[in-house]
Amino acid sequence: MSGSEAPNHTADLVIVANRLPVDRVVNPDGSIEWRRSPGGLVTALEPVMRANDGAWIGWPGGTDEDLEPFVEDGLSLVPVHLTEAEVEEFYEGFSNATLWPLYHDVVAKPEFHREWFDAYVTVNRRFAERTADVAAENAMVWVHDYQLQLVPAMLRELRPDLRIGFFLHIPFPPAELFQQLPWRRQLLEGLLGADVVGFQRPGAAQNFVRLVRQRVGHKTHRDMVYLPDGRTVQAGSFPISIDVKGLEELAHSEPVQQRAKEIREQLGNPKRVLLGVDRLDYTKGIRARLRAFGELLEEGELDVEDAVFVQVATPSRERVEQYRVLRDDIDRLVGRINGDLGRIGRPAISYLHTSYPREEMAALYRAADIMVVTPLRDGMNLVAKEYVACRYDGEGALVLSEFAGAADELRQAFLVNPYDINGMKASILEAINADPKSLNKRMKAMRKTINEHDVSDWASSFLDVLSETKPMHRKQLRPARRT
Ligand code: ADP
Ligand code: G6P
Repeated sequence: MSGSEAPNHTADLVIVANRLPVDRVVNPDGSIEWRRSPGGLVTALEPVMRANDGAWIGWPGGTDEDLEPFVEDGLSLVPVHLTEAEVEEFYEGFSNATLWPLYHDVVAKPEFHREWFDAYVTVNRRFAERTADVAAENAMVWVHDYQLQLVPAMLRELRPDLRIGFFLHIPFPPAELFQQLPWRRQLLEGLLGADVVGFQRPGAAQNFVRLVRQRVGHKTHRDMVYLPDGRTVQAGSFPISIDVKGLEELAHSEPVQQRAKEIREQLGNPKRVLLGVDRLDYTKGIRARLRAFGELLEEGELDVEDAVFVQVATPSRERVEQYRVLRDDIDRLVGRINGDLGRIGRPAISYLHTSYPREEMAALYRAADIMVVTPLRDGMNLVAKEYVACRYDGEGALVLSEFAGAADELRQAFLVNPYDINGMKASILEAINADPKSLNKRMKAMRKTINEHDVSDWASSFLDVLSETKPMHRKQLRPARRT
């Protein structure tokens, strides 16, 4: 598919995120195709973007060529090019080997390198400049995630007319951890370029305001920051959600139901199918979860004839050392558990490295009796919400880490401490043995919660607050269409 060019200075809503919502695929005949990419951010933002004919600025992945803006499947896309060195230093380095581990409770050790930060500044400036080119006068700009924390201030310098929002999809760390960062002040000042700074949880917004007071010295009151030039910045929590109705409809569809049945058959029709779905990331707690399952088999609490664990783990950030180590670790662990505890035609764990279309994801959710989501720390975790959305029959059980943002809302899940393997084993067994009535009650309550707050509510709640920041602004954005 080839696209037409997107015009400059015309977008009333500009989404700025590290990644474009599409992946570039080169066919065997050399033709180029764009495919919608997986990932929480993309899944969440596409509907609001379509509803507002907005533009999306992001990196198309790779370093091949500097692409012109184009329109694909109705979305106006503006690629930002990264060089090979920038992928190493900005993306793999500062974003994913410094900020990612630091913001996730230092689950892995963050690395601090000055040249990585320099690349972060350069790339953030490039994103700010592209945005300044594309945004219409008085437009709303919504900057996303930890890769682009300097963009709000850089963009405000270039285009003071814009309304700028920032949303952090991952946790914001407590002051004790954030303070380790040699560039802590620059990052806080970068974020303060926004009118509204949004987080997944209220505690994160409080961490941010406290740090601004302590480290930058601005006056604050509750969730407001008062800058010396008279401007205010509002911090707040806006827990992200999913397209609940769209996913539920997909789960209801005949092909997906058929496929779910087929998956269970292919697994040998066990009594219980347990499922884990994650990017292969050390924050997701995959290792402890599989160990818990392995021990339950070893101890005879479960039998491979009755229970199988399907673990889908999409490889991610594969050139970053800690991700490589994790992949080897999990490969070894799965091999050991299957080697020790599997039987012919009955592996204990069915381990898949594949990225699937939405239909297959919905079928997997439909096929699973117990969804096991055990991150050591997670901003939200959309997988947990997706599972609940697909369980329209009220069946199924969710085992969920207390340390995922989703645990604030999905209180009726079997909540676990992912560091406590015995506790996880007990909760998995409890979920397996729970009577269907009580499971139904839990699932219904969780479904009610997610139905009350879907992704379009999330987007409009953020954009409503952003619109209110300058009352003279007249342009109104349309809410996302529900599919
Ligand atoms: P993160 O954003 O850290 O990866 P989330 O759970 O919040 O974690 O979001 C992950 C998103 O990626 C979900 O929408 C999920 O459906 C999707 N996803 C995860 N694994 C796969 C896969 N193997 N194939 C397709 N989509 C996937
Ligand atoms: C998380 C982050 C996103 C990121 C996604 C996929 O959801 O919050 O910003 O895009 O993971 O990671 P990747 O490094 O492949 O973009």
